[in-house]
Amino acid sequence: MVVPESQGKMYHPPLELHRDAHVPDFSSYLVMYKRSLENPEAFWKEVADEFFWKKPATSPMLQYNFDVTKGNIFVKCMEGAKTNICYNVLDRHVREGNLGEKVAYYWEGNLPEHHTTITYGQLLSHSCRCANVLKQMGVKKGDRVSIYLPMIPELVYTVLACARIGAVHSVVFAGFSSESLCERIMDAKSSVLVTADGVYRGDKLINLKEISDEALEKCVEKGASSVARCLVIKHQALRTKTGASCNRLQTPWDSERDVWWDEAMSDSSEECEPEWLDAEDPLFILYTSGSTGKPKGVVHTVAGYLLYTFLTFKYVFDYQHHDVYWCTADIGWITGHSYIIYGPLANGATSVLFEGIPVHPHVGRFWEIIERYKVTKFYTAPTAIRLLMKYGQEPLQKYDLSSLRILGTVGEPINPEAWQWFYEVVGQSMCPVVDTFWQTETGGHVLTPLPAATPLKPGSATFPFFGVEPTILNEHGEEVEGEAEGYLVFRKPWPGIMRTVYENHERFENTYFKKFPGFYVTGDGGRRDKDGYFWITGRIDDMLNVSGHLLSTAEVEAALTLHPAVSEAAVVSRPHTVKGESLYCFVSLKDCKEFDKKMADELKRLVREKIGPIATPDFIQNAPALPKTRSGKIMRRILRQIARNEKDLGDLSTLADPKVVEVLFSQRSEATA
Ligand code: WT7
Repeated sequence: MVVPESQGKMYHPPLELHRDAHVPDFSSYLVMYKRSLENPEAFWKEVADEFFWKKPATSPMLQYNFDVTKGNIFVKCMEGAKTNICYNVLDRHVREGNLGEKVAYYWEGNLPEHHTTITYGQLLSHSCRCANVLKQMGVKKGDRVSIYLPMIPELVYTVLACARIGAVHSVVFAGFSSESLCERIMDAKSSVLVTADGVYRGDKLINLKEISDEALEKCVEKGASSVARCLVIKHQALRTKTGASCNRLQTPWDSERDVWWDEAMSDSSEECEPEWLDAEDPLFILYTSGSTGKPKGVVHTVAGYLLYTFLTFKYVFDYQHHDVYWCTADIGWITGHSYIIYGPLANGATSVLFEGIPVHPHVGRFWEIIERYKVTKFYTAPTAIRLLMKYGQEPLQKYDLSSLRILGTVGEPINPEAWQWFYEVVGQSMCPVVDTFWQTETGGHVLTPLPAATPLKPGSATFPFFGVEPTILNEHGEEVEGEAEGYLVFRKPWPGIMRTVYENHERFENTYFKKFPGFYVTGDGGRRDKDGYFWITGRIDDMLNVSGHLLSTAEVEAALTLHPAVSEAAVVSRPHTVKGESLYCFVSLKDCKEFDKKMADELKRLVREKIGPIATPDFIQNAPALPKTRSGKIMRRILRQIARNEKDLGDLSTLADPKVVEVLFSQRSEATA
């Protein structure tokens, strides 16, 4: 790799950024990158030295086996060391760094009138009190706690409380259905659920406690009753649309099981000795869609995740102590875990924590927040950018966005129009856009520009982060050099990579390591251009990316076939101008069943109930038959082309019955949107 020459349009970092940057230019990046690969031991040891270790490591910084043919896959970072991540992201700053009074979060509610500030000192004291509440409820080291909460400070307190006592947190995005919540509680066998009475998302009230109760009932019906206690935050009651307080009794209540947060917290001590954990003890489980349907419980561990989220946050956003950083993701996803909680806190940063949505109560909400808190680093998703682009420049012109220095995107490939708009309109052509490629599994950024160092090409996640060695393989698993396209894989681990699928190590090995022994397989296609830049070409498995969230077609198909009238379903992706991709579903009905609008609506409702609103199908088309090979495999390539109305289907000779295709094309217009 050499310093890239300008071939085609490149965007160079603004001069003023070089001066104080941690990685001031591309040659520094190259030197550091080389060192991180050639001497990972020294590289990561230096990072570890920033933190507090109750006991130092007794083995190398990284040990691993990435080759299934040589035995079980494992990754270990700093084995033998003892530490606590909550101590490192809070106590260390308050006690040693004198940051007790520094703002950790500016919390901004669903409405602009609702906001509050939380300092590092307060964050520590609330987290300790919550830790004691959890202990009181019987939670011990290694126990799992499911957390089903909106973007409120209590969510952060609860996550850090778990980390403090060594409990494994499993945050479930509060937009998931009761069915999805039940599935995740059962898989993790959590003993406590933390939720809230309800939350307003825009104008819509979501009754979280009711959904939680339904989920817990379902767990019992399915023979699992691990959840002994449910801790409930009174949130909606405090922040109804009108500000009027609502009657607590409206919240369904089981006095044996349910406990109000404020009552439990009020007489809980703010002293809580952290549990000193092994470096490789689990920190959390976070579920992500799997191509076989059932979500996978991705497990991250204490020390490696701390080092990696700390370092990626510091370098990718070029963190400076006066920054006000804002990541618009939800903590229910990995982006929120790594870049709202752990990465920023490990650096002692000030962040905005936003509960609401981009267009409520007005379409300038994001810009209003940037002005209000003088946000310097702003990290969001291409889908949000595309949504806001639709309203033009006018909503931005009312606000002062001159505080912005660095912009970032995550979740899906960013299309050039959205990139240009983000760069020119939001960043006034003065802020680099870091397009960060990573996954729930990778724990942190793996391909990303560094803002003062990397010349940008819109749509490219550019180069690997320190310690990360990507390569591209062809269909036969051979590495392809130079300009090439194929499977994006990684040759060796970095500290923040996942360790296993919760209680299913075999699935971990099969999913990520079986296909090409010796490599971690991302599931994404990748291309390297002549300048060495990496481009993500999209998923190569049966996964879809809707608004930056991965969904498996199998999971949606499984939900559709639960309907008694459906005999078979096949789901494919169709491009969508705001969401990136959308769901186009083909359903075959059982004999004598009629397909009509009512049926389509029922099916949509079913998918929402089973998975959640993000999985709502955009189109449902009746399919008297599906295109299949002679061996009975559904040919999704053809369905994708029908969904996109691409008439040139190429070779259909492998189809058992090519006439099926004509029928599907002729009925395409009847698909209900
Ligand atoms: C998948 C991972 C990482 C946090 C959010 C999603 C896609 C993610 C990019 C990007 C192109 C991207 C990939 C990846 N993806 N970031 N910058 N450019 N594609 O986490 O739900 O685990 O999804 O999101 O397909 O594999 P996730």
